[in-house]
Amino acid sequence: MADVIGVNRARLERELVEVRGIDAEEQQEMWAEHRRACPFEAVTGEEVPGLLGPQRGAYGGAAGDMYIAWGHDEVAQVMRDAAHFMKPGPGGPFANTILSMNGEEHRKYREMVKDAFAPAAVDRWETTLIRPLMHRLVDAIAPKGRADLVRDYTSHFPFHVIRVLLGIPEEQHDEFVGLAFPGSATLGSGFDDEWERRVQRFLDPHLAAARSRPQGEDLLSVLVHADLDGRKLTDDELYKFLVLLTPAGADTTFAGASTMFLGVLTNPDQLELVRHNRKLLSRAADEALRWHNSAASSFLRVATDDTEVGGCPVPRGTVVAAHVSAHNRDEKRYPEPEQYDITRPVLPRGIFGYGPHACLGMHIARCEMKVSLDVALDRLTNLRLDPEAPPPYVRSGVGFPSPPYIHVLFDI
Ligand code: HEM
Repeated sequence: MADVIGVNRARLERELVEVRGIDAEEQQEMWAEHRRACPFEAVTGEEVPGLLGPQRGAYGGAAGDMYIAWGHDEVAQVMRDAAHFMKPGPGGPFANTILSMNGEEHRKYREMVKDAFAPAAVDRWETTLIRPLMHRLVDAIAPKGRADLVRDYTSHFPFHVIRVLLGIPEEQHDEFVGLAFPGSATLGSGFDDEWERRVQRFLDPHLAAARSRPQGEDLLSVLVHADLDGRKLTDDELYKFLVLLTPAGADTTFAGASTMFLGVLTNPDQLELVRHNRKLLSRAADEALRWHNSAASSFLRVATDDTEVGGCPVPRGTVVAAHVSAHNRDEKRYPEPEQYDITRPVLPRGIFGYGPHACLGMHIARCEMKVSLDVALDRLTNLRLDPEAPPPYVRSGVGFPSPPYIHVLFDI
């Protein structure tokens, strides 16, 4: 890792700092009004884009009348009940990927890759990749006494992790980030045909090399050697899966880890709690994902039959948006939901979705978030916000909600 800190610095600064978006709390307040008024709300085509945010268009659906599940229980029901609510199918950047499949086809794809994402695999990655990576990143900032944790830390490790999982060598890191980051969900656009062709050109030699080697542990190797009903995956199937992983796995974890640092740093009592009791690391991570969901705010489903949610009849064919962000703030389940609080008696649920499509990479994401905080607490003594720098906030409206900067000081 020649210059992990320098990678794409200029672009990151431009995109993360100058593109300000809006304060995510304002957006949450708007969603909360809807949730309080009606946890399962019928909306018209004109209202839909504004309520769902930019990712609505990413699914390619026409703006039509639909329901939005805002409440905690309503979202959980819609996402869990795959018998009555299926994925809308083709359309948008993730068409024909595991994320858009249904039923048996989806089950087989998941089965094929599940070991590569299982806790046992993640334990290995923690020792061989994730912990050493965090130390290398902290090595570069520790002597300076100050840092922007977003620019210098959280915007790096999720991309290195996905790159290594895919078996792409470090010399190609910049090129990989260039393909994965600026054209991804973080800036709300860029999934066009030209981008897909660039990704394919980039991946082709790696696919060929992985095929010529015996199966190893990296995901690319697992995928090229996988058996799907007696056949190997085609190039097109492989591209689709791999293309999904960078926005699904890197942008999300980047946003989640940044929000977690903001959560603990703006609540110094909680920072102290976790500093002295590292069993709380996973609560610090999960509570950040509840506080500000670091993936799409909502996920679409279509009713496969006449059914009911929260006493509301839902006719077959109705599109329903399960608003995970709003459900994370449901005051019926989380008192004072706007507070970041790692001591909540009720643990966050559904932060990685529910049911058959629940996040495949959740153990990797949690591991990265926990270890990044663990290493920072060990190595950056007296870590605290820089009182003279602009106060950090969670920005929304520019991809996944997350702070654009977190300026900190620590002792050297
Ligand atoms: C904090 C980080 C993350 C969050 C908040 C998150 C959130 C989610 C959510 C909510 C879903 C469900 C979507 C739905 O039901 O429609 C999902 C699915 C998925 N995630 Fe994540 N994710 C994160 C990190 C990752 C990572 C690190 C990876 C891979 C390395 C990953 C790979 C996937 C895949 C492949 C799916 C599709 C699963 C399926 O449809 O069966 N995610 N994620």
